[in-house]
Amino acid sequence: MELDKSIEKVLVSETEIQDACKKLGAQLTEDYKDKDPLLLGILRGSAPFMADLIKRIDAHLEIDFMTLSSYHGGTKSSGEVKMIMDIDAPVNGRDILIIEDIIDTGRTLKYVREMLELRGASVKIATLLDKPSGRVVEIKPDYTCFTIPNEFVVGYGLDYDNHYRNLPYVGVLKEEVYTN
Ligand code: PRP
Repeated sequence: MELDKSIEKVLVSETEIQDACKKLGAQLTEDYKDKDPLLLGILRGSAPFMADLIKRIDAHLEIDFMTLSSYHGGTKSSGEVKMIMDIDAPVNGRDILIIEDIIDTGRTLKYVREMLELRGASVKIATLLDKPSGRVVEIKPDYTCFTIPNEFVVGYGLDYDNHYRNLPYVGVLKEEVYTN
């Protein structure tokens, strides 16, 4: 397949991701019953995970999205989190579950969590991938599907230069793709 040619190795397979969505969905069904949470996806990376995960939660919930950017297409965090699109809805008193594709430096989530808490929300975090070795600020997810090593990964929402988000799995990009 065309996109596979750029992938060095698969880190988390499509089956593993779908199984993890089922498992986390069952856990969230239990933890959030009667809470009517707001699941807040951080665009653009969280889109596939959000779409698969919510179908596995059997409880009342709402979804919304916020767009933030700190990588600007490259392989390294710029260190500056930029708000591109905020949410409209008031969040005071809401149980918010942030849905992320990956936590690396932690800067994105620290920024969002503090902002939402200032607005009066109670915030928890669910991430598909956690890369603890990349951390520069303290952030601990409440729900993690996979902990990964310090490698630059793409697929299932994660991009390099805005591409590869449509791979159904998470893989390591061949170095030649981003050094050329
Ligand atoms: C990625 C990812 C997370 C963030 C995590 O987003 O989707 O939101 O980086 O990295 P951090 O823990 O170092 O802050 P990115 O800024 O690349 O935007 P995108 O989702 O549109 O690709």
